[in-house]
Amino acid sequence: MGATIVSPTLLSFVVILCIVCSVKQGYALGRRETVESHTIQVSSLLPSSICSSATQALNKKSSLQVVHKHGPCSQLYQDKADIPTHAQILLQDEARVKSIRSKHAKNLGRSTNVDQSDATNLPAKDGSIVGAGNYVVTVGLGTPKKDLTLIFDTGSDITWTQCEPCARSCYKQQDQIFAPSLSSTYSNISCTSTICNSLTSATGNSPGCSSTACVYGIQYGDSSFSIGIFAKEKLSLTPTDVFDDFLFGCGQNNQGLFGRAAGLLGLGRDKLSLTSQTAVKYEKFFSYCLPSSSSSTGFLSFGYSGVSKSVKYTTFSTITQSSSFYGIDIVGISVGGKKLLISASVFTAGGAVIDSGTVITRLPPTAYSALSSEFRKLMSQYPKAQPLSILDTCYDFTKYSSSVIVPKISIFFSGDVEVPIHKNGIFYVNSISQVCLAFAANGDDTDVGIFGNTQQKTLQVVYDGAGGKLGFAPGGCT
Ligand SMILES: *[C@@H]1O[C@H](CO)[C@@H](O)[C@H](O)[C@H]1NC(C)=O
Repeated sequence: MGATIVSPTLLSFVVILCIVCSVKQGYALGRRETVESHTIQVSSLLPSSICSSATQALNKKSSLQVVHKHGPCSQLYQDKADIPTHAQILLQDEARVKSIRSKHAKNLGRSTNVDQSDATNLPAKDGSIVGAGNYVVTVGLGTPKKDLTLIFDTGSDITWTQCEPCARSCYKQQDQIFAPSLSSTYSNISCTSTICNSLTSATGNSPGCSSTACVYGIQYGDSSFSIGIFAKEKLSLTPTDVFDDFLFGCGQNNQGLFGRAAGLLGLGRDKLSLTSQTAVKYEKFFSYCLPSSSSSTGFLSFGYSGVSKSVKYTTFSTITQSSSFYGIDIVGISVGGKKLLISASVFTAGGAVIDSGTVITRLPPTAYSALSSEFRKLMSQYPKAQPLSILDTCYDFTKYSSSVIVPKISIFFSGDVEVPIHKNGIFYVNSISQVCLAFAANGDDTDVGIFGNTQQKTLQVVYDGAGGKLGFAPGGCT
């Protein structure tokens, strides 16, 4: 008797529950529809050991192939023991950021506010040039031409390579070390020439003299350095784009975290940068695309040809443009398609620069906390993981065998330019159990912000030095 009464009650209870649950589900679905998101294959988060080379770079005129120095597409020797851990990479990244801050503040005639703990990590010389990035290109130097794989860097100016006889020291590199004595087009710059003096602004150090030869010295944020003879030589960017009398550093004493790269290609704004030295031909116009992963390839192109029709331009910033750096104005951030409420003054306090060598984008702390808290809210269904160095918003995806759903992120630049971050530019992956939001906070809102290379992946990034503007187009490479 009781059972016949209980049954309908139970039934209606179940029915009510189900209405509640369907409403809840409907609400959840409705909410999900308003959150713009990426579906990311978990397997795609891990690096592949096979290079899948893109062909588009080769179709562009005046183009070099860009690869990640530690990946399977790189010609550099792949010895696992040489590859730094992710924690080490992030530590080096922090050293680079500190040297950018210090050099930047010096350029703007400000002093940096560093505390004691920072002081030990700071570059020995205030204003020295910042450390090595992680994307490489191969160029030809000398006659006959020798191929050299160089780290390309929009945050520094002078181009240098290790040179025979390595009077003091050369680190191990993959290419044969450049031998000036075997090239018919090599010559030293004299230390009495005015060109020698221009090293001061390009390197942050005054030039020296060795017998009559001009000596350059450059230090990087992580205590890496190169010292040697300032020289000129024939530079072959591509078989058709050849520059006589290219000024470069012929390094006789080199040390640091350059991997097996032969040196560095400086694409900054100073007059000794490659950009300035080739201005007659390319009008300070270049673009690049950083590949989505270390197992694919991108490009570095000089001149206007090959620029995407969908590129949107923002003018270089008047706040942060300096002798070396390319200044930009970040004006907003969206997460899941929703613009965060961040006051404009948060971004203008320190301004921002774009850098090919900084891995993780640095934001004013006020902006970063708005970004990370919205991201955490939308990612609340996923288990969290331990922070990784400077990255504090990390997830454990071990239980997700196929895919995860991640909110889209866009950065907005002045001129109403929305730059959607590629799905491979949202996370920095240590392992599947530690996948971290690839953004970090500066120490203070007045510190200069940096748009880093993880967030630039797959974008065609266009530098129009003569036109005073920076462009972005999605889908530049895979
Ligand atoms: C360049 O200068 C160095 C240092 O003084 C010297 O050893 C070398 O022979 C010079 N090379 C040429 C080609 O003049």
